[in-house]
Amino acid sequence: MAEPHWSRQLIFSVAGNPAVTRFVTRYGMRLGASRFVAGEDLDSALTVARQLNQEGFPLAIQFLGEHVTRAEAAAEAVEEYLRLLAALEERGIDAYISIKPSQMGLEVDEELAYANCRRILEQTAAAGRFVRIEMEDSPYTEKTLRLYRRLRETFGTRDVGIVLQAYLYRSARDLEELADLHPNIRFVKGAYNEPASVAYPDKADVDRNYRQLVQRHLERGDYAAIATHDDVLIEDLLQFIEQRGIPRDRFEFQMLYGIRPQLQRQVRDRGYRMRVYIPYGRDWYGYFVRRLAERPANVGFVLRNLIRG
Ligand code: FDA
Repeated sequence: MAEPHWSRQLIFSVAGNPAVTRFVTRYGMRLGASRFVAGEDLDSALTVARQLNQEGFPLAIQFLGEHVTRAEAAAEAVEEYLRLLAALEERGIDAYISIKPSQMGLEVDEELAYANCRRILEQTAAAGRFVRIEMEDSPYTEKTLRLYRRLRETFGTRDVGIVLQAYLYRSARDLEELADLHPNIRFVKGAYNEPASVAYPDKADVDRNYRQLVQRHLERGDYAAIATHDDVLIEDLLQFIEQRGIPRDRFEFQMLYGIRPQLQRQVRDRGYRMRVYIPYGRDWYGYFVRRLAERPANVGFVLRNLIRG
């Protein structure tokens, strides 16, 4: 949300053009996606994961995929997550798993997405690993919250968590309505192209809402994953945390692989839990575009890579 709204919208609209999509994906990750994506296969992700663990970062790992329209594709994603889980267990990697609801088939059928998430959670919960259900664009917010609530009928706060986006007007209400579950929530600003009818267009409002949501959640004693690269916001929240004497085991910071690595190290070196999010897989286009839209200056390095060939 650091950039003017129009430049974000422009990137989303150009990137949505099928010819652009074809061109960029044919060019492959060397156009710039490799800065944000750990690799196209599980082995590459595990290599990056081991390295980051050695540097003292716990991880959240996502197998890239979204807006799946066939039940078979969702089933393949489930199989990949189970392979990922087995590899994490075998190698003793400190990581949890992040899943997109539309990757589990939420667009096809809510029941299908629930069954797929359940299959994964049965295994992860038995292994004592956490799963984060991510939040996508606003047409899926309600369904995703329903999916989370349903999973919580079987699984605990320690097994599964959710994400709230500070740019959505509705998030303050959602936070209150979730309170009875004492959820583990990842707070983000929000990465999608949302209209002003559902999301704050101004960064200042998003930042203000972000602070309020996290503070309210921490005041209640519930666990917050503070997922942002905004150093001002991080300092503000740390001040609040210190003033209220909130213990360090009630929150963590999270940042994306490839974004502000120096800030990641600084937060780690101050003794806070700093989790790095690593995505992998061949379906990196949508993820890559969101990273460009967050910081349109990133388009510059794509163009430089293009010129270099
Ligand atoms: P902001 O955009 O204000 O950026 C702060 C500073 O960080 C910038 O000034 C710049 O220096 C740097 N920065 C930010 N983005 C950058 C980029 N792409 N390239 C280079 N520098 C950049 N969203 C969502 O809708 N659903 C979700 O489930 C998740 N999940 C998620 C997990 C984790 C671990 C993180 C860190 C983020 C998400 N997000 C997300 C993305 C989130 O909504 C948001 O789009 C990004 O984190 C960027 O916003 P910041 O909070 O960093 O602030």
